[in-house]
Amino acid sequence: MRYDSITDAIGDTPLVRIDPAVHGLRTIDLYAKLEMLNPFGSVKDRAAWNMVRPGLPGAVRDGETVVELSSGNTAKALAVIAGMHGLPFKSITNRMRVAEIKDLLLLLGAEIEELPGQTECLDPTNTDDPLTLFHQELSQPGSPNLHTDQYFNARNTESHAAGTGPEIVADLDGRAPDFFIACVGTAGSSTGVAGVLRAHDPGVRVVGLVAQKSDFIPGIRTIDEVQEVGLFDPATYDAIEAVSADEAIDGMLTLVRRCGILGGPTGGAAYFGALRHLRPFDAESTQRRTAVFIVCDRVESYVGYVRRRRPELLGRPPVKNSVTALTEAEVAAATVIDTADARKWIAEERPLVVDLRGSFAYAALHIEGSVNIVDELFDELVRGGLPFSKRQAVLLACPVGEKSARYAALLTRMGHPDVRSLAGGIIAWRDAGAPLERG
Ligand SMILES: Cc1ncc(COP(=O)(O)O)c(C=O)c1O
Repeated sequence: MRYDSITDAIGDTPLVRIDPAVHGLRTIDLYAKLEMLNPFGSVKDRAAWNMVRPGLPGAVRDGETVVELSSGNTAKALAVIAGMHGLPFKSITNRMRVAEIKDLLLLLGAEIEELPGQTECLDPTNTDDPLTLFHQELSQPGSPNLHTDQYFNARNTESHAAGTGPEIVADLDGRAPDFFIACVGTAGSSTGVAGVLRAHDPGVRVVGLVAQKSDFIPGIRTIDEVQEVGLFDPATYDAIEAVSADEAIDGMLTLVRRCGILGGPTGGAAYFGALRHLRPFDAESTQRRTAVFIVCDRVESYVGYVRRRRPELLGRPPVKNSVTALTEAEVAAATVIDTADARKWIAEERPLVVDLRGSFAYAALHIEGSVNIVDELFDELVRGGLPFSKRQAVLLACPVGEKSARYAALLTRMGHPDVRSLAGGIIAWRDAGAPLERG
């Protein structure tokens, strides 16, 4: 294989059969599409190259900066491609949550602008979110940037409709698999591949995987966040299923330890989600079928992610107090109060109000007298034990009341006698017309 440019090496990734002795399915042949073997390390190499390519000559002529709202693989691929063309690259993001990826981007020459927003991901309908404002500004005509716009750019999906999908069909001797399973971030890869597979066989079953509510799997969205993506169309998927961070790590462990596939957490999520979805089909039929899942990127950047969530895998003591260890019953049993009751409680008993949102959102608007402990820091604090006296009643608030309910359940499990979560979060408080202060 000889190439004139490294970008010519994007695509044509291997489709590798997973050993049935490992996955245990009797009637289904399971294959991994190894997008991690693209030259810059991920499935996003295809999208990044396809999105940026048409604008490169103009950007070089006019000295533009390549810009993308990404904290991960798209930014990584764009940083490399921009650098190859002598262009600066700027990554704009809410919070860089995977330290290794942030460092790698800086090493690749990227400029990183972190705008702590209300949500982890872009919500184009929420004009209060600074990231959204930035997105609107970048999309204005005459902006001095080459904005690749991965959440809305059809060239993202097209890169997979032209490459990833046809490659899978070709490697299966001209047939579409019976099942296709992929994690959903921008939805570009799953949408592009699903379209091609369905054109070959309308019966193919497409499963989209997202992170469980309030859980974080780097690179993909939660079920709520995914609705906000311009390229996401629920009709693409026969099923959308959630995977927890723990399940993603379990899947990743099997890939790296048993299959020789050094995939990252979303590859693990895809493997775990594929098996969970396929088992009932396997049990009910003797017909031979084929399934394909995508391994999006590599494990190496996620050692810190694993250390935080599953330290015992790296020979460290396990995390004692963690929301990930809660049962759904415990979360459902957390004390949740609505805005009216919360206002009354605050007026009468003065609980400590803890706002778990990012500092920018807190600075923009918060409940009078509340303290701001960003959820990640709070997570760190509770690991060491109860961060408040048991005599101090506590009201927890977050954007929509989900994270706060989980932390309320955790503090209750840890023995706190009176911790409550604000139902619907600061958004419900604001919508109820309750007072909020700035600054
Ligand atoms: C690690 C990882 N997995 C999965 C995905 C999902 O891919 P897509 O954006 O095509 O939905 C991404 C996207 O950024 C990713 O970075």
